[in-house]
Amino acid sequence: MLKTGTFTRRGLGTLLAAGLLAGGLVGCANSDTGGDGGDSGDGSGNGKIVLGFSQVGAESGWRTANTTSVKEAAAEAGIELKFDDAQQKQENQIKAIRNFIQQKVDVIAFSPVVESGWDTVLKEAKDADIPVILTDRAVDSADTSLYKTFIGSDFVKEGRLSGEWLVEEKKAATGPVNIVELQGTTGSAPANDRKKGFAEAIAANPNLKIVASQSGDFTRAGGKQVMEQFLKANPKIDVLFAHNDDMGLGALEAITAAGKVPGKDITIITIDAVKDGMQALADGKFNFIAECSPLLGPQLMDLVKKVHAGESVPTRVETEETTFTSEQAKAALPTRKY
Ligand code: AHR
Repeated sequence: MLKTGTFTRRGLGTLLAAGLLAGGLVGCANSDTGGDGGDSGDGSGNGKIVLGFSQVGAESGWRTANTTSVKEAAAEAGIELKFDDAQQKQENQIKAIRNFIQQKVDVIAFSPVVESGWDTVLKEAKDADIPVILTDRAVDSADTSLYKTFIGSDFVKEGRLSGEWLVEEKKAATGPVNIVELQGTTGSAPANDRKKGFAEAIAANPNLKIVASQSGDFTRAGGKQVMEQFLKANPKIDVLFAHNDDMGLGALEAITAAGKVPGKDITIITIDAVKDGMQALADGKFNFIAECSPLLGPQLMDLVKKVHAGESVPTRVETEETTFTSEQAKAALPTRKY
């Protein structure tokens, strides 16, 4: 479920209104149209809105669930989707956006792999009169007229909730609590913001110290590899804060291989709450997860329809999320959708 609100990130404006609905039906495929043309761009005149969507990649369970949500919602809403997978590379996203402009799609949406470096291509879209919607991740462009709205989570809050749980969990500690941090993709909004929120929260207890922090690029392989390095370099690790479940799941392998018991010898906090992460939490291998919902598709399609119709939309649509302990994960797992 989503809520609208005033957004504090640089460059984003004040909340306008919510009122989000979903609609109709049609399919899609990777890097192609998955349909037979749009109503205003490619001249096929089938009456459908054509949406060009540039996805970050397929780096995590979260991303896979997000892609499914976008594809299913486009089909449901009767929107023709041109989907592109950028394989976690900004240059691929810029190329995809330029292709969408050339194809004269009706609306462009994308989940920016990193925050910076989008002004030129966004200006090109604006000059071509194609409205842009940011999904999942924000950009740091000072000119907020370059996009219509941003739909996604409050990443700072996710980091803060993780840190606040840890402060409570370790409140009886009398000596240093050594934390290692697995950051997401360098320069990405979730990596920057989760780091910030977590650091702010743990500042409440001077015993809590981040002794190592490095990017695992939001992947299981990255999480495993960097955790191995952390374990070699740091004889005493009390806590792992991983910016997503996948890196935490990769780190589990490294921790077990090092002869330590995850969830007991090392307290593990992650973000996302995808099924595999929730299972690890229910099994006691993780200790806490802050949720980040990937199910943005239906709300995105509603925004697409509205901007295409020239209607006003909120400048910020924020995802409503919760947190999970092990007991809560056990209760939620049977009905978990992703
Ligand atoms: O932008 C959302 C983040 O991207 C998710 O937390 C992570 O799993 C994904 O790769």
